[in-house]
Amino acid sequence: MKAAEYITDSPEQTSWIGRLLGKTLVAGDVVCISGELGSGKTVFTAGIAGALGVSGYITSPTFCIVNEYAGKLPFCHFDAYRVESAEDMNETGYFDYIGGNGIVVIEWPERIEEILPEKYISVTISKIPVEYGSSAEARKAAENRRLIRIRRVSV
Ligand SMILES: Nc1ncnc2c1ncn2[C@@H]1O[C@H](COP(=O)(O)OP(=O)(O)O)[C@@H](O)[C@H]1O
Ligand SMILES: [Mg+2]
Repeated sequence: MKAAEYITDSPEQTSWIGRLLGKTLVAGDVVCISGELGSGKTVFTAGIAGALGVSGYITSPTFCIVNEYAGKLPFCHFDAYRVESAEDMNETGYFDYIGGNGIVVIEWPERIEEILPEKYISVTISKIPVEYGSSAEARKAAENRRLIRIRRVSV
């Protein structure tokens, strides 16, 4: 798959792109979502979850590293933001989920680069800088604009 790129202007649109990706996922798929704090990784994850029939509120599991939900497929959401070493992942069940029969989403995958699977779907979300000299209105609109890039990675 070539990289796909989308520009969104609201959390709803970002969630929708997550939903579209979610519909294409099959058992065992791992989705790694990169992007700075507040870029929309959890919003995107909620869209994936929706496509998998996970009901309920998706929050970032920043403090407990992992949340597990039951949908059409088991759905497991990691946030590695506070992970200091790959060993922290041992007790989360990470190694059982990877290669298991569910869907795994990982926020902050760069924190655990050395233990990512050989194949995964990479999503990067970035804010789009406003052009120098833009009007206040254009600046306001740009606050909610994101570039989303999706590609398959195999190491
Ligand atoms: N286009 C957009 N896509 C996603 N989130 C957006 C967008 N525009 C504004 N936001 C806001 O940015 C924030 C993203 O939060 P969140 O998904 O928790 O970020 P992250 O998980 O990357 O830290 C939310 O408050 C959301 O309302
Ligand atoms: Mg988050």
